[in-house]
Amino acid sequence: MTGPDPEEHARRLAAESLSADDPTGWFERLYAEAEQGEAVVPWDRGAPHRMLVEWARAAGLDGHGRTALVIGSGLGEDAEFFSGLGFRTVAFDVSATAVRAARRRFPDSTVRYLTADLLDTPDDWEKVFDLVVESLTVQALPRSVRLEAVARVAGTVGPGGTLIVVAAARDKRDDPDQGPPWPLTRAEVESFATGDLRPVRIEAVRDAQQPGVRRWRAQFHRDRPRH
Ligand SMILES: C[S@@+](CC[C@H](N)C(=O)[O-])C[C@H]1O[C@@H](n2cnc3c(N)ncnc32)[C@H](O)[C@@H]1O
Repeated sequence: MTGPDPEEHARRLAAESLSADDPTGWFERLYAEAEQGEAVVPWDRGAPHRMLVEWARAAGLDGHGRTALVIGSGLGEDAEFFSGLGFRTVAFDVSATAVRAARRRFPDSTVRYLTADLLDTPDDWEKVFDLVVESLTVQALPRSVRLEAVARVAGTVGPGGTLIVVAAARDKRDDPDQGPPWPLTRAEVESFATGDLRPVRIEAVRDAQQPGVRRWRAQFHRDRPRH
């Protein structure tokens, strides 16, 4: 497809959606346009996120007998990666078109792909997953809903469970109100830790391809209650 820069186009759709007081409607529009060959999904890497893969390999992660929730799963690459490590994986996205596209991309998948809104997650996801993967979704939502989004993500981590977060890091030059994305400050990353969900490691990693860009990779753990 030749046409506008994919990131510019996504930002234009987002601006239209936000001006109609709809923080998430533009994702469906973008994925639907991409289905028609009229747009490119800028974050479609055709592979799981490198920072998640590195983390999982370094940790020797084995998901057999464990559950995972992948938030804002897009076209399914991260969900398939964690499923491949043995996790019984649920993956959801606010865009029904993205969910259909992920199922089509991975027809033999055992991942349960669902359409759902992070800002309105089902009650039966509260504190149940052994691994929760949040990569680039909170940063794709405006700061007006950040507290809610962070709390919803954190709330799905079960006792003994792990949360891994990947997000763009806010730079001094960034205008906090100009997005998407709306990169996160260190304090915002730390705010995933509430109650018995505690930080294990928070790293600011330089992007090998874009040396000026830093991303957060943050791991949290929820202790099991003591009896
Ligand atoms: C920047 S993309 C990242 C996609 C994927 N996590 C990745 O790293 O490739 C953000 C994704 O989150 C989804 N999303 C945005 N807001 C959401 C919400 N409120 N609930 C669920 N998914 C959401 C979008 O549709 C999109 O697929």
